[in-house]
Amino acid sequence: MKKNDGLGDYILLQRMMASHLQTPFHLPPLNHLTCIVTGSTSGIGSETARQLAEAGAHVVMAVRNIKAAHELIQQWQTKWYASGEGFPLNIQAMELDLLSLDSVVRFSNAWNARLTPLHVLINNAGMFAMGGAQNFSEDGYEQHMQVNHLAPALLSLLLLPSLIRASRSRIINVNSVMHYVGFVDPNDMNVISGKRKFSSLRGYSSSKLAQVMFNNVLFKKLPLETGISVVCLSPGAVQTNVTRDLPRVIQDLYSALPYFIFSPQEGCRSSIFSATNPQIPQHYQKLRTNEKSVCTLFVSQNCKPTNCSEEAHNIKTANRVWEKTVELIGLPSDTVERLVDGEDVQCRYGTH
Ligand SMILES: NC(=O)c1ccc[n+]([C@@H]2O[C@H](COP(=O)([O-])OP(=O)(O)OC[C@H]3O[C@@H](n4cnc5c(N)ncnc54)[C@H](OP(=O)(O)O)[C@@H]3O)[C@@H](O)[C@H]2O)c1
Repeated sequence: MKKNDGLGDYILLQRMMASHLQTPFHLPPLNHLTCIVTGSTSGIGSETARQLAEAGAHVVMAVRNIKAAHELIQQWQTKWYASGEGFPLNIQAMELDLLSLDSVVRFSNAWNARLTPLHVLINNAGMFAMGGAQNFSEDGYEQHMQVNHLAPALLSLLLLPSLIRASRSRIINVNSVMHYVGFVDPNDMNVISGKRKFSSLRGYSSSKLAQVMFNNVLFKKLPLETGISVVCLSPGAVQTNVTRDLPRVIQDLYSALPYFIFSPQEGCRSSIFSATNPQIPQHYQKLRTNEKSVCTLFVSQNCKPTNCSEEAHNIKTANRVWEKTVELIGLPSDTVERLVDGEDVQCRYGTH
């Protein structure tokens, strides 16, 4: 999709383009996988976590509302037993609030202390406070930028030791076609300079573009020997709680277009595909060994590799976004190199 292609067209055509896909996917046994899914208390994340667990994966729901996660786990276990399965789902919940970088460090430290391999990290949690005012996190960052980009970036980097411990692993970022209309000024990630006027749409699309740019640099920095594939994806336009802050008229439009809008079962296909498809590491490796590749693997809502936006190909800006991100999340500039060498890094956050 090019920047000027209509998002409306993309919504209207998404079901047709994805008509070849099974819903849900028939998954092979995944008992060998440990997967962390952020934001798995609703929508795409909840469906992703449940389907991975039902295929046998050990799933960790990384959520800010632990009570809601425990209630879901209870419901899923009950249904699972009722369907005649003898073993419980291997699923648990851990607290993670992306609006607090301290929380991200606490989560990562607790996870890394287990000294077990992590095969799949799905950075799914996200927010879109459509029409809302500009709000800042307790760390002082614009909330869309923090929840959709900065906190997942910190989580991905801090979990590298556990991802490296698995011989093959994946970092999956649930991104959006909205990154095509995004613009990031690395000197003004919080949109406070007054050069651009803040709107929630700008906040959301910029955060999604920043995520793609950051992961394009991570793609280049991570040596192939780590066995880690970095993927960004679009789930499509999906009926979830993400519409809860949308103006009534747009919520009504979503509800009036049930044929065109994906259900969460359909919207999680590109996440499940990216997390489990055996071709992903080969595809990633081919891309990574091509000197001309600028962008990491981007999977469309039809589960096909696609191009990230033209702006995301801007290497100079992507490198500045990387540098600024690492600075804002309180990590040293050589974090990846040190973690890959098995050294520790100190983060400015996580001491409270
Ligand atoms: N739906 C779409 O059409 C669409 C399109 C493109 C991309 N996406 C992306 O898909 C991803 C999943 O969204 P969704 O559509 O499934 O929306 P959703 O139903 O609203 O789910 C979002 C999840 O993120 C969690 N979350 C929000 N803020 C958080 C925070 N500060 N810390 C931890 N978790 C937090 C929410 O937790 P709570 O339940 O506690 O609020 C919820 O579990 C997002 O990254 C979104 O940008 C969605």
